[in-house]
Amino acid sequence: MVFGIPFVNHVMRLIIFATAQTVVYLFLVPIILATITYRTYVAVVSKLFRPDLDSFVTGLDTSFLGNTPEESSTNVICCLVVNGNISEYRIREMFEERVIKLKDSKGDFVYKKLSQYWVRFYGYSFWKTDKSFNLSNHVRNYDYDNVITEKPTDEDKLKKAIEDILRTPWKSYQSHWELLVQYPFNRKSSSETIVPNQTLLIFR
Ligand SMILES: *[C@@H]1O[C@H](CO)[C@@H](O)[C@H](O)[C@H]1NC(C)=O
Ligand SMILES: *[C@@H]1O[C@H](CO)[C@@H](O)[C@H](O)[C@H]1NC(C)=O
Ligand SMILES: *[C@@H]1O[C@H](CO)[C@@H](O)[C@H](O)[C@H]1NC(C)=O
Repeated sequence: MVFGIPFVNHVMRLIIFATAQTVVYLFLVPIILATITYRTYVAVVSKLFRPDLDSFVTGLDTSFLGNTPEESSTNVICCLVVNGNISEYRIREMFEERVIKLKDSKGDFVYKKLSQYWVRFYGYSFWKTDKSFNLSNHVRNYDYDNVITEKPTDEDKLKKAIEDILRTPWKSYQSHWELLVQYPFNRKSSSETIVPNQTLLIFR
């Protein structure tokens, strides 16, 4: 009884350990190294030959990428109702002042990505600045009534509109966001009475 159970266990553990190491060194490490090398190569090539490309799309932003730049695969929509008639011009003005022109302490635009869209380059997604960025393309009166749904003038129509807007493709060569303004909007209050004279803002 030279080889007892403890010894067999020990050998098994060694074999498992060795196998795990082999997998790591033979497959994972080369794959990771190759990926890093390729990414660095793409970064250098993009800097040299595509000065129009800004940086890699990274982090949370990657979860919003579709198969093509126009595809609307993942979206976030927020709605806001405010009193009175607020025009698209007024909202554009406020947006321009408080968001688009906002710079950080280094003098860089804080919300630069609002004027950028993404393109594929060598298999990677890059930010690219819309050279003819125009806020009117993004902040505008609700204009999907000719394309998908009628104007969302109350909550039932809004539900239908949101379903459709979620699936609406983005325009080519424009940043993926929009702020749609709809006046008039009749919101139901908690007591089920209709509150007229309100403006609906849909942010996607
Ligand atoms: C709508 O609301 C605005 C501001 O709250 C007010 O100035 C305007 O007179 C109202 N219009 C109507 C038709 O009630
Ligand atoms: C809301 O205001 C805008 C601009 O101030 C105006 O052009 C538009 O006619 C108004 N809408 C209504 C329904 O009164
Ligand atoms: C932005 O677009 C609007 C509407 O299409 C146009 O009237 C305006 O002149 C454009 N502004 C610039 C700076 O191109």
